[in-house]
Amino acid sequence: MSQHHFNFSYELFADWNQLSESDQTLVHQALSAMEKAYAPYSNFKVGASVLLETGQVICGSNQENLAFPSGLCAERVALNYVGANFPGVTIDTLCVVARGELMPDEQLLSPCGGCRQVMLESENRQEPPIRVILVNQDQRTMIVHRVKDLLPFGFGK
Ligand code: THU
Repeated sequence: MSQHHFNFSYELFADWNQLSESDQTLVHQALSAMEKAYAPYSNFKVGASVLLETGQVICGSNQENLAFPSGLCAERVALNYVGANFPGVTIDTLCVVARGELMPDEQLLSPCGGCRQVMLESENRQEPPIRVILVNQDQRTMIVHRVKDLLPFGFGK
């Protein structure tokens, strides 16, 4: 038997207005994307903004469906759009924001497992890691330096 450890570092800010100007812009874009969420079943609205190496920003929001499994998370709406329309373009940062009672305020916002798997596949397709900015409902903000940190032992190469 051998013992192994996994640890990673992340940044925590009390409020997203402490972020750099460009990161704050990304948060603003995710917040306005969140307003376009279609979430009548969960009342949990999520917005995602993706900054590409070209400077373009692609946004997405969760889109639910009465046939529940047919809905899709904000992160996957945005990342799949990037894959479909900007193949081969490197992703710099993904920012996620959310509003709703589904998650307690004191719990840090964190992408679901399915989205992490999709995020990981995006990261594995490019050389640099993807930064992830997660903005909590109480404004606390976490910056993770690479998707791999959010999904150790993720399925993939
Ligand atoms: N949701 C996201 O958009 N992203 C996540 O990472 C977790 C959950 C959405 C899916 C569904 O529309 C609602 O939030 C409640 O689960």
